[in-house]
Amino acid sequence: MAVVLLGAALLIVQPQAVSSRPAVSSEGDAAAQPAQKEPFRKNDFRETICPNGTFQQLPQTVIIGVRKGGTRALLEMLSLHPDVAAAESEVHFFDWEEHFRNGLQWYTNQMPFSHPHQITVEKTPAYFTSPEVPERVYSMNRLIKLLLILRDPTERVLSDYTQVFFNHVQKHKSYPSIEELLVKDGELNVNYKAINRSLYYVHMQNWLKYFPLDHIHIVDGDKLIKDPFPEIVKVERFLQLTPQINASNFYFNKTKGFYCLRDSGRDRCLHESKGRAHPKVDPVLLEKLHRYFHEPNQRFFELVGRMFDWH
Ligand code: A3P
Repeated sequence: MAVVLLGAALLIVQPQAVSSRPAVSSEGDAAAQPAQKEPFRKNDFRETICPNGTFQQLPQTVIIGVRKGGTRALLEMLSLHPDVAAAESEVHFFDWEEHFRNGLQWYTNQMPFSHPHQITVEKTPAYFTSPEVPERVYSMNRLIKLLLILRDPTERVLSDYTQVFFNHVQKHKSYPSIEELLVKDGELNVNYKAINRSLYYVHMQNWLKYFPLDHIHIVDGDKLIKDPFPEIVKVERFLQLTPQINASNFYFNKTKGFYCLRDSGRDRCLHESKGRAHPKVDPVLLEKLHRYFHEPNQRFFELVGRMFDWH
């Protein structure tokens, strides 16, 4: 490792190694090891160390999705832990070509400054449903710990619609009703993107080509809404963090209708865009959606060896 002093900053040039072989199934030792600071082969890869000892590092864990699953809540809750440093905004490194082209040094530069004992986390919900992403993440770090938060696929569709609807409203643009998007020629419009994103087994299969199941911790997004603390304890355990988040870090806010966070006496709820009312959908159409997801859900349960309380 070469060490170069540059003004106030110390640059460490760290040649690192990477494996090019997919860990399809049996290497499942990630759960038994601390989050790895595993690495890259780029000889020009640098970590900038500040005088206060903090530096930017590649994430040891990534929240890969799913969009509208509760990814922001998960990130904020995990950030209550003193040993976690979270990237503020969604980085879209692995799924946006113009970002990916910039390489790992660029990715590192998007990360927060953290202390050596901290782990870095970023969340980009679109990763889960982008077919090219698993291989790219694997090439970066085959031992990375992945966090995936899922909720009832039908609820997720409604939440997805609601987000896009409000994005249009903010830009003073019109947007079709949910019925117009969900129905085509009298049938369920299975080409509607929001429906495809809720076919969890399809996307999960892509990830399992590269990562064994025990590298991917699935957070139950419906449970995280109703009672976040037990879900966060499981995440702490998966990441092998010392248990530091307490039940007292969460309180139910009746006005918001969701749990909010309490940290060093400071109370905060998630942004108003999280936890919006969903559109009322014709019960017959809703039932069609539930029935449509039934089989894919079963396939997902088989794939991950775990059941979820979905319709
Ligand atoms: P809705 O806005 O449809 O209710 P994401 O951050 O991935 O976009 O997910 C948004 C969803 O997080 C929200 O969907 C909301 O249901 C869920 N959520 C989970 N815990 C929450 C919390 N404590 N506060 C607000 N929203 C929360």
